[in-house]
Amino acid sequence: MSATRSAMRLHFPLLVCLAAAMSSAVITSPIKLWTKVILTQQWPKTFCSTEHCQLNISYWTLHGLWPDKGEFCNSSWHFNATEIEDLIPDMKKVWPDLLNPSSFHFWKYEWSKHGTCAAEADSLNSQHKYFSKALELYQKVDLNSMLQKANITPSDKYYTFSDIEQAMENFYGVKPKIQCLHPSTNSEPQTLGQIEICFDADFTLYDCEKHFATNTLSRGQWDQNKSSGLSVCSPDIPVYYPPDS
Ligand SMILES: *[C@@H]1O[C@H](CO)[C@@H](O)[C@H](O)[C@H]1NC(C)=O
Ligand SMILES: *[C@@H]1O[C@H](CO)[C@@H](O)[C@H](O)[C@H]1NC(C)=O
Ligand SMILES: *[C@@H]1O[C@H](CO)[C@@H](O)[C@H](O)[C@H]1NC(C)=O
Ligand SMILES: *[C@@H]1O[C@H](CO)[C@@H](O)[C@H](O)[C@H]1NC(C)=O
Repeated sequence: MSATRSAMRLHFPLLVCLAAAMSSAVITSPIKLWTKVILTQQWPKTFCSTEHCQLNISYWTLHGLWPDKGEFCNSSWHFNATEIEDLIPDMKKVWPDLLNPSSFHFWKYEWSKHGTCAAEADSLNSQHKYFSKALELYQKVDLNSMLQKANITPSDKYYTFSDIEQAMENFYGVKPKIQCLHPSTNSEPQTLGQIEICFDADFTLYDCEKHFATNTLSRGQWDQNKSSGLSVCSPDIPVYYPPDS
């Protein structure tokens, strides 16, 4: 009995120290949640100009929904198509794997790389929430009809970069990030390839440029295939928005 008591006396200060250490650890290193997400859409004709595509699609398709913090956040959280069964018909249409339309590989990859990080917030903490939010935001921004309304249509004539940027800013009231495939010689145009639209944690449209500085420039590549070489369009080179060949 007295042995137990003296053991308690010895341990008690240690427990207090441990508890203090643990609570201060919580206070000094809060979990760094993402605060913005980037909805990325691609123009399949441009993607397929450098890849062996199996689909011939002429509307903007989803590439991904990327939180601004973290990649591959939870390797034990596996993609499970059953959880998004009801979304698959829409996913096949607007988020197709252009290289391999019958596989889930693209969605699986996007989930592991970005979805598991997005899922750290309650608003996106399941596969169903993550993929359905991406589909919802895709419908909300509707690049296909927006560009058409601004008379920016796939064609053999070239646009200026500011035509496209200005149309988008006028329509959405925020700055997108517009990416092009760059020409190998100076006399050629750049090819419109990918558009990023940014949202805050409440999924309100947000200026991409202002808060996504240099560290996200590296995302200006199709992460499905790094050799695709997309980056932010140059303001000074004509822009080709490729039509059906
Ligand atoms: C792709 O589809 C369009 C119609 O959407 C068609 O005009 C074009 O010829 C097709 N291209 C190929 C390579 O199949
Ligand atoms: C990672 O995912 C697994 C499986 O869904 C889950 O049980 C676990 O809590 C997750 N870990 C973290 C740190 O979120
Ligand atoms: C996939 O999700 C379904 C529906 O939630 C569940 O019943 C099944 O056990 C999951 N499969 C795996 C391998 O986790
Ligand atoms: C990436 O591009 C290279 C060169 O164009 C090609 O050989 C490779 O198969 C591509 N990888 C994927 C995953 O598409």
